[in-house]
Formats: sequence, structure tokens, C-alpha cells
Amino acid sequence: MEQGKSGRALVVGGDSLVGSELKVHCRKLGLTVDATSRRAATPGAVFLDLGDPDFTALQRGRYDVAFVCAAVTSMQACQSDPARSRRINVDNTLDLMRRLADRGTHLVFLSSSQVFDGETPMPDEAAPTAPKNEYGAQKLAVEEAIERQKLPVTVLRVTKVLADRPVGVFKGWFEALAKGQAVQAATNMALSPVMVGDVAEAAERLAAGRHRGVWHLGSSDDIGYFDAARLMAETRRLPISLVQGEELTEAQVPAIYRHRYVTLSCEKIASLPMPVRRARDILDTLFAGFPR
Ligand SMILES: NC(=O)c1ccc[n+]([C@@H]2O[C@H](COP(=O)([O-])OP(=O)(O)OC[C@H]3O[C@@H](n4cnc5c(N)ncnc54)[C@H](OP(=O)(O)O)[C@@H]3O)[C@@H](O)[C@H]2O)c1
Repeated sequence: MEQGKSGRALVVGGDSLVGSELKVHCRKLGLTVDATSRRAATPGAVFLDLGDPDFTALQRGRYDVAFVCAAVTSMQACQSDPARSRRINVDNTLDLMRRLADRGTHLVFLSSSQVFDGETPMPDEAAPTAPKNEYGAQKLAVEEAIERQKLPVTVLRVTKVLADRPVGVFKGWFEALAKGQAVQAATNMALSPVMVGDVAEAAERLAAGRHRGVWHLGSSDDIGYFDAARLMAETRRLPISLVQGEELTEAQVPAIYRHRYVTLSCEKIASLPMPVRRARDILDTLFAGFPR
């Protein structure tokens, strides 16, 4: 890993999955890192609630780079309260980015493959956008404002970011399989995973290079949830017969949250160079590292 960098970085949303990793990654590289939090208990953090922001404390500092990770990240929450989530994810996020840009900060904005409708295989950075849900529309609104206002921002669109410990659906499968219980995994949904460590590395390198424009990061292909669950059982030598396939219904996961094609073309970022890994390799390494 590259060492001995200097400069000051701000992680907006330091308690998020990506933000937590960015703090560690940037500090390891030698950067001085401040982070924002909504939690009074987070030591050393700058308080920032994008629902009702007071930017005074942030405007005392000068940052070379800033990573914008804070957002209402639940697609359902954005859909059910578009006005509130838009204020946080679009209006106040842009206000914050403009203030930091005015003080010479280069920013990285974490966007999403949800800016697409998922009907075209492997869209590249120039492919037409067409969000199917409010979360994707909010990400796109920020991207378009960045371009219109010529802000010094890298837009990093990521697919499905994975933590390096069991969380979410993987945790549920892992715990159930270990207890000898059957698990249900979707036969009609796929993911294009990317490890959080790779997202942090890419974001820092894009910021350090002051790259602008849109960049994609995901895996080079996708894997169905059913195959992912079978892979977990295989890797951990758990009974594969306990993995059962189920076709998800509209009631379980509405079509506005589903993409037929989940993989993004990542050729641009591969030329940095950044590794763009196979979905199966990512999950294999991840599952092998889960604690016993
Ligand atoms: N994870 C993914 O698979 C994925 C995929 C595509 C794009 N992204 C984007 O990448 C970024 C980071 O995602 P993540 O998964 O790391 O996020 P996350 O773990 O879901 O955390 C979101 C963070 O945003 C903070 N937040 C929510 N509302 C806020 C508000 N009003 N003011 C200030 N902070 C607020 C939360 O604060 P609290 O901790 O206090 O709740 C939390 O720390 C997000 O912009 C997300 O949309 C993520």
C-alpha cells in the first residue's frame, strides 16, 4: 500500500460503512482525517446533521479532499418520504459540497448504479441514466448539479458494497446454515459485489488525482443470490442441501428496486489501475474469512 501521504481529509458520514473504512484507509496513508457524525458519542467527530445542517464548525477547517458518504441510504425510506430524503440527499448535500469547494476542497461523491434502470447490460459512464426509484433519482439530481455547477467533484458510482464481516442477508444465511437450518435465497436477483476496502482505495486515489467526472466501480460480472448462498455453503463446508431457491415476488421486492442487469462497465477505473474482481472471487474470499 502507498504510504507517507500528507494533507487533510474530511469524511462526511464517518459512521457509515464506506466512511468508517475511508477513515482507517486515509489515516494509514498518513493523511490527517476529520469525520462528521450525528452521534454525540463519537469522539473527535464534527457534528453534522444534513437534515438541519449547521456548517459553522466545518467552515473553520480547510480540507484538501472530502468524501461525501452521509445519506439516507435506504431505498424504501427515500421512496416513502421523498421530500425529507431529498432535502438531505440532494439540497443540503449540494450546499455542503459547494461550501467545501469554495474553500479549495476536492470532493468525492458516492453515487449508485441505481441511476440506471438496469435494463442494459454493462452500462459505462456515458450510458443514458433512467432511475426507477426515488433514491436513484436523488443520486442523479446531485450528479447533474455537479456537472451544471462545474464543481470539483469525482462521482464514484458503486454497485453493492460489502462489509468484511457478516452483515445483512449473508449474516442470516451464515448463522442459519451453521445451526443446520435451511435458508431461502433468491433465484431471480443477482448482485455485483465490491468490497468496502476497494471502494475506499478507489475513492482516495480518485481524490488524490483530482479526477473529475463519473467513475464506475463494481465487480466484473454478477452472481445470483441463490448461487451466492450455495457458494457460502461450499466454502464453509456447510450442508448445501439446506440452501433452497425461491423466486422473489413483487410483494417481497418491488420491481422498482430490482435490476435485470446489475453489473457496471468498470473499464475506466481499471485503467487507473484499480482491480476489478470477479463476483465469485470476492465472495469466496469474503466467506472464507467469516469468523467460526
Ligand atoms: N452500501 C452500498 O451498497 C452502496 C451502494 C451504492 C451507493 N452507496 C452510497 O455510498 C454512500 C455510503 O454508503 P454506506 O452504505 O456506507 O452508508 P450507510 O452505512 O448506510 O450509512 C449512511 C450514513 O449516513 C448518515 N446519515 C443519514 N442521514 C443523515 C443526516 N440527516 N445527516 C448526516 N448523516 C446522515 C448515517 O448516520 P447515522 O450513522 O447517524 O445513522 C450513516 O452513518 C452513500 O451515499 C450511499 O448512498 C452505497
